[in-house]
Amino acid sequence: MSLVHEIDYGTPASRALARVTLTIDGREVRVPEGTSIMRAAMEMGTQIPKLCATDMVEAFGSCRLCLVEVEGRAGTPASCTTPVAADMVVRTQTDRLKRLRKGVMELYISDHPLDCLTCAANGDCELQDMAGAVGLRDVRYGYDGAKHPDPGKDESNPYFTYDPSKCIVCSRCVRACEEVQGTFALTIAGRGFDSVVSPGMEESFLASECVSCGACVQACPTATLTEKSVIEIGQPEHSVVTTCAYCGVGCSFKAEMRGEEVVRMVPYKDGKANRGHSCVKGRFAWGYTTHKERILKPMIREKITDPWREVSWDEALGHAASEFKRIQAEHGQRSIGGITSSRCTNEETFLVQKLIRAGFGNNNVDTCARVCHSPTGYGLKTTFGTSAGTQDFDSVEESDVVVVIGANPTDGHPVFASRLKKRLRQGAKLIVIDPRRIDLVRTPHVDASHHLPLRPGTNVAVLTAMAHVIVAEGLVNEAFVRERCDRDEFEDWAAFVSEPRNSPDAVAKISGVPADAIRAAARLYATGGNGAIYYGLGVTEHSQGSTTVMAIANLAMVTGNIGRPGVGVNPLRGQNNVQGACDMGSFPHELSGYRHISDDATRAMFEALWGTALDVEPGLRIPNMLDAAVDGSFKGIYIQGEDILQSDPDTHHVAAGLAAMECVVVHDLFLNETANYAHVFLPGSTFLEKDGTFTNAERRIQRVRKVMTPRNGFGDWEITIALAEAMGFAMSYAHPSEIMDEIARLTPTFAGVSYELIDALGSVQWPCNAKAPEGTPVMHIRGFVRGKGKFVVTEYIPTDERTGPRFPLLLTTGRILSQYNVGAQTRRTPNVVWHQEDRLEIHPHDAEQRGIRDGDWVKLASRAGETTLRALITERVAPGVIYTTFHHPDTQANVVTTDYSDWATNCPEYKVTAVQISPSNGPSEWQEEYGELARKSRRVAPVIEAAE
Ligand code: SF4
Ligand code: SF4
Ligand code: SF4
Ligand code: FES
Repeated sequence: MSLVHEIDYGTPASRALARVTLTIDGREVRVPEGTSIMRAAMEMGTQIPKLCATDMVEAFGSCRLCLVEVEGRAGTPASCTTPVAADMVVRTQTDRLKRLRKGVMELYISDHPLDCLTCAANGDCELQDMAGAVGLRDVRYGYDGAKHPDPGKDESNPYFTYDPSKCIVCSRCVRACEEVQGTFALTIAGRGFDSVVSPGMEESFLASECVSCGACVQACPTATLTEKSVIEIGQPEHSVVTTCAYCGVGCSFKAEMRGEEVVRMVPYKDGKANRGHSCVKGRFAWGYTTHKERILKPMIREKITDPWREVSWDEALGHAASEFKRIQAEHGQRSIGGITSSRCTNEETFLVQKLIRAGFGNNNVDTCARVCHSPTGYGLKTTFGTSAGTQDFDSVEESDVVVVIGANPTDGHPVFASRLKKRLRQGAKLIVIDPRRIDLVRTPHVDASHHLPLRPGTNVAVLTAMAHVIVAEGLVNEAFVRERCDRDEFEDWAAFVSEPRNSPDAVAKISGVPADAIRAAARLYATGGNGAIYYGLGVTEHSQGSTTVMAIANLAMVTGNIGRPGVGVNPLRGQNNVQGACDMGSFPHELSGYRHISDDATRAMFEALWGTALDVEPGLRIPNMLDAAVDGSFKGIYIQGEDILQSDPDTHHVAAGLAAMECVVVHDLFLNETANYAHVFLPGSTFLEKDGTFTNAERRIQRVRKVMTPRNGFGDWEITIALAEAMGFAMSYAHPSEIMDEIARLTPTFAGVSYELIDALGSVQWPCNAKAPEGTPVMHIRGFVRGKGKFVVTEYIPTDERTGPRFPLLLTTGRILSQYNVGAQTRRTPNVVWHQEDRLEIHPHDAEQRGIRDGDWVKLASRAGETTLRALITERVAPGVIYTTFHHPDTQANVVTTDYSDWATNCPEYKVTAVQISPSNGPSEWQEEYGELARKSRRVAPVIEAAE
């Protein structure tokens, strides 16, 4: 293995269709119109010396190293800023050019510290490379002259160092921050020789607007911006392409290694989801993999109040299996079940549901999508026929109007947000529908055309009112509806949305959004060109989550915004493999590929291959498993990679369910909150330690590749196989690729998928089969998967969770950029520097009424429970609405969320809880008690060495 080196073409690719032919150094080359001479030369393998150009950003033309001669033109133009022209004749190497380039390099080097041997970039420095490329042998000006200003190193960012003494002021970092990331955190301060790169208003990186995405570090050609890991370890010697294990964007990375040590993660330019960009989590927050709190040995205990006892794998698996078998013998086949993980690979998820269906002999399998995107599956399957988003991320580059509803992409899906912001800076329009004024509403060079700050819980009413406007004002795409949708259902729906109770004026009273704003947003979406809708958990995690998804689908159909690039309905998936977990048959009623367990032909196919009869009855969902546990009929559970105690609603109920079980097996990296109730702990492996695939929000299946030996000894897929064997159900796979082969045999939408195909194409989007052998970037192009698109009447039914005198405020929850879900990984990285605790966002008006000041402890109480956290006074939330994140277990935000859930899928209503807040002295009694239980529960008995 060696380092994967991607070619740097110097300038971005031109998207023009027309092509021109020119001659460079005597050779003809044909490239798209608008291509730079530099890129055209690189396309034919000639690298023109360069310093300020790189193909992730537009050309700048400042270093003057890339000069060329063009026949018939005076002077020596910069090849990075000069576009090709038909019949142009270019020379890249002449005596004059050599002389000029050496002169430029002499100036750079005379102003550069010559500590190359001890410099962190030694071996990966473009300045050094260019000195070699131009044949620099001497510097006429010496090295002792004036140097540009050096304000000293900035070590404030936990992951990278800024050493201005090495800066050549090429501005690549500034442009990367603007063009790739879209944060505009950097400027060049000062003029001429005194120019220096400055974060914000000459602040430190940590204090500035910087979001630590690392694009500037990647762009820097010298050691000025360098990863601290490179400074500490040295340059990597090989790399492996793999996929980020955090969010559903699915960024592709080169894990750059020395031996089995990760030196750095570098976003892969060929990654089709991220195109060479990343966020702080994927690029930097991988330190949890070697964190000292990782559990590496299996453990068991009789009672949850006992200390843990480290045991062998055989003993742990044998104990779990015998307990599960005992429970089934005493309480029946359906008395146990399991939860698959959206953090684990497709192959691992498939095996867990196989273990439950075939090994446990029931369908009591569910997944964390239950608590996030299960309404997406239901809503899109009902309306379009497929439980998945319709587009790829590239699609946003062709959108003219983008609606973001119930999502906060700059925090939750940062790399998609950067791609979206780029499109918005090019002129696309934005509509934000969200109770909070999320960053996208106003961000550098982006102003949303409309922000509809609706009251939490009123999505359906607002979307139906937008449909009202579209129908009432004759903005229906008649041709699309006629050709592609069921006419009768459309007529019924159109009559429904036209009713006065669905008008913007009526809905304004319910939602708090002015009628004119609803009208304007509807008109823009319907008439603004390619309209795309992106949504997140602010849509799904409601009692009407599935209805909202269908209301979105209705809007897309009525305006014809489906079935081509630039449009579509796009769920922004939370976890890295939540799409895959759903695809793999993790729901109790569905086998892989969303086929109902009661379908005899489908079941027969699985039974034949697995050699066992399957239960025909759908199993229990997570909340039903917990209810059944409290009722005494459900006694054992295998939980892979999910912390239900922290992530599921109504924590007291989850705790009661877990406490009532006789055998809880937790398979995870750390002793998480759920493990406080476990009897068996099986140590899990990280994405760096195993092979497999993840499927991102675009339905893109990408390889996860092992870069280091699992510290716990096994990949998670191997542990599930061993547990199945201990249960008496043998599974035999030598490698995860064989599991994928089985998935392909059993799942029509995956029929063409194999590791060979993924390796050949880089990634593939399902459906991938005989009809689409290289996958399907955009769905429903010629027709909907279900045949005719189905308009569904979306009656607005207010949630039962109401505000009143006792609980007058509405709480809604979300994520923050630097932390990830329950925080198990990110809290164990330096990312805590940005978010050490969950804070409660309160509007100044609500805070003042209650005498709460910024930073005060606040009691947050609902009908379900209460917790305490500190206040953050901000106008990001409207009066009457408060907001918090749920990344820290000591806050336990889900103690206050209720057990109301989506009518169709049981997805919990995290986004609407009626609450009251009041000043407090500190953490509540409950939090103290819980902390004590957690401390006790995590005790591990000392290992007693056998005396000789
Ligand atoms: S890390 Fe990202 S946000 Fe921060 S300055 Fe660099 S490019 Fe900008
Ligand atoms: S910090 Fe690096 S990328 Fe930025 S101007 Fe200096 S040398 Fe160029
Ligand atoms: S955007 Fe998501 S997938 Fe990409 S690096 Fe960040 S967390 Fe990972
Ligand atoms: S690379 Fe063209 S001017 Fe710097």
